[in-house]
Amino acid sequence: MLYSLAFVAAFVAQAFAHYTFPSLIVNDVKTEPWVNIRMTNNHYDRAPVTNVNSTDLRCYTSKTNATAKTIDVNAGSTMGIACDQTIYHAGVVNVYMAKSPDETDVADWDGSGSVWFKVYEITAETDGGQSITFPAKGLPSVNFTLPGSLPSGQYLVRVEAIALHDAEQYGGAQFYISCGQVNVNGNGDGKPGPLVAIPGVYTGYEPGILIDINWPIPQNYTQPGPVGGMVWLSSIVVVVSDSGFTPLYSGTFVNTTSYEFTFSSLLYRYEVDGIGRTDSQLLARTLYE
Ligand SMILES: *[C@@H]1O[C@H](CO)[C@@H](O)[C@H](O)[C@H]1NC(C)=O
Ligand SMILES: *[C@@H]1O[C@H](CO)[C@@H](O)[C@H](O)[C@H]1NC(C)=O
Ligand SMILES: *[C@@H]1O[C@H](CO)[C@@H](O)[C@H](O)[C@H]1NC(C)=O
Ligand SMILES: *[C@@H]1O[C@H](CO)[C@@H](O)[C@H](O)[C@H]1NC(C)=O
Ligand SMILES: *[C@@H]1O[C@H](CO)[C@@H](O)[C@H](O)[C@H]1NC(C)=O
Repeated sequence: MLYSLAFVAAFVAQAFAHYTFPSLIVNDVKTEPWVNIRMTNNHYDRAPVTNVNSTDLRCYTSKTNATAKTIDVNAGSTMGIACDQTIYHAGVVNVYMAKSPDETDVADWDGSGSVWFKVYEITAETDGGQSITFPAKGLPSVNFTLPGSLPSGQYLVRVEAIALHDAEQYGGAQFYISCGQVNVNGNGDGKPGPLVAIPGVYTGYEPGILIDINWPIPQNYTQPGPVGGMVWLSSIVVVVSDSGFTPLYSGTFVNTTSYEFTFSSLLYRYEVDGIGRTDSQLLARTLYE
């Protein structure tokens, strides 16, 4: 009898440590659970996906086949995806979107193919080996700004909270996932990218997925998935010709949307519509393309 009570207690504790993302936040209002988000397989037990090659890495609906009601959002506005409790575990977050093909209602679309681009991320903070912190831990929701240049149309919007507390072994990272359906209004003419397939985007061996976050304390952290943000260069404040153009490694982000560098004694500033990444090498590549 005592044994079975202990078993129940352990089970409850474990269920509490797990979570789902059943609601969107649109115009500051949290939607009812599983109305605008496809009900996931784990809506009851809240267990994570751990196999990065599983189709369930996409929307985690293999057992429910759920679709949802599509809700209107405005490009450039802030929206969110709410957790049923808080993001309990140490880890990082990515938000991806995928536009349903023309003439296809997003409710009838499974999101297969290389169609996903990253719009937001909450990474880990490191300081060379003294500490590692996870700003996503404890958040009740993941709020983000829809890029103003997002073309209008119907999209899947997918949150992925990657819990890393057991990630020192292959397959130990836990993916808490859900997909909402939104109809984006606006006049955006951006070209979202780079595009990836889900599953396919991860092998599970990435340094930000197969990682011991406890010891030794990681000196740096590499966010899994493609770099977002740089593809959203919407208004290039200064256009420079590419002849003799090499100084990009000296630039910095002055804030999350503005990147500055000096070339021939002149200050150039790029305005980035989306998330900012201080990875000058990737930025350089994007600017050359
Ligand atoms: C996200 O936005 C909602 C609605 O405005 C707010 O209640 C919530 O606190 C926000 N969450 C975070 C993590 O900022
Ligand atoms: C989900 O769809 C698959 C494939 O069409 C089918 O085999 C399965 O029975 C469906 N499950 C439910 C719960 O509807
Ligand atoms: C997933 O696929 C990758 C190759 O893309 C492979 O290296 C890895 O072992 C696979 N993992 C599982 C759990 O099947
Ligand atoms: C830290 O940076 C090194 C060198 O770039 C890289 O090999 C390693 O994978 C990174 N570690 C993490 C956890 O991202
Ligand atoms: C970022 O900095 C630039 C340059 O000072 C400024 O024009 C821009 O408004 C700032 N953006 C934000 C979001 O603070």
